[in-house]
Amino acid sequence: MRKKIIAGNWKMHKTVAEAIALASGIVDSYKPKRVEVVIAPPFTALYKVAEVIRDTHVRLAAQNMFHEPEGAYTGEVSPIMLKDIGVEYVIIGHSERRKYFGETDTTVNLKVKSALKHNLIPIVCVGETLDEREHGITMDVVRRQILGAFTDITADAFEHIVIAYEPVWAIGTGKVATPEQAVEVHRFIREVLRNELNVEAENVPILYGGSIKPNNIESLIKEPDIDGGLVGGASLRVDQFVEIVKISDRIVGGN
Ligand code: 13P
Repeated sequence: MRKKIIAGNWKMHKTVAEAIALASGIVDSYKPKRVEVVIAPPFTALYKVAEVIRDTHVRLAAQNMFHEPEGAYTGEVSPIMLKDIGVEYVIIGHSERRKYFGETDTTVNLKVKSALKHNLIPIVCVGETLDEREHGITMDVVRRQILGAFTDITADAFEHIVIAYEPVWAIGTGKVATPEQAVEVHRFIREVLRNELNVEAENVPILYGGSIKPNNIESLIKEPDIDGGLVGGASLRVDQFVEIVKISDRIVGGN
C-alpha cells in the first residue's frame, strides 16, 4: 500500500519558541498507527524543531531549498545543510514560490534532482489557478507541471518522491476542492506518470492540499486515490492538526 501522509506546511509562521511549542504539542498529543506525520517549519526553527521531534513519530520537512550543494548564493539554503540537521522531506515548487519568487518548472526540476541526489524526499507541488480551471485547462497545466518537474528523473527515483496536488484557488481561501475534483486530478497525474514517464504510478503517494480542516479531511482521505494532505492554516494549531491526523489514521485503518 502507498504511504499515507499528513504534512503541515507552516509557511512563514512561528518564532522558534512558538515552533517548539507547536512541535511538542504534535508529538505529545497523538501517535498515529498508519499515517506518517510530517511538519515543515520555517528555516529559522528547523534546527530546534529537529531536536524536539528526534526519535519520535514526527518527520521533518523544509519548505524550500536551493539546488546547489554550496557556494556563493546569498540567502539560500542547500540540501546538504538540510540533511545535516535531520530534514527528510522538502517541499518543492509550492504555488506561493511559483507566484511570488519566480519558481518555474525548470527550477522545480533542478531542485527535485538535487533533493533526490542528497537523499531528501521532495514533495512536489502542482496545481491550477482559478482562471486556468475556468478556462478548462486544469489537466494541461498539471501535465505540464508534472512533465516539467520530472524531466530526466528515472522511474526508479519515484520510490522517493511525493506529489501534492494543490489547486491554487483552494489554498488559504476556505474553498476546499470536492473529493471528486481532487480524485479526477489525482487519477490524471497517475496516468501521466504511468503513460508518459513509465513510472509505477500505483506506488507514488499523491497528497491533496488546499483548505484542509478537521471537518473536511474525512471525505478526502476516504478516497483511495488521495494519499493524505498538505495542510497550511490548520497545521498551525495543535488541536486542529492533531484532529486531522487522528481522523486520517482512523479512516486509513478502515474505521
Ligand atoms: P491552506 O491549508 O491554508 O489552504 O494551505 C494549503 C497549502 O498551501 C499547503 O501547502
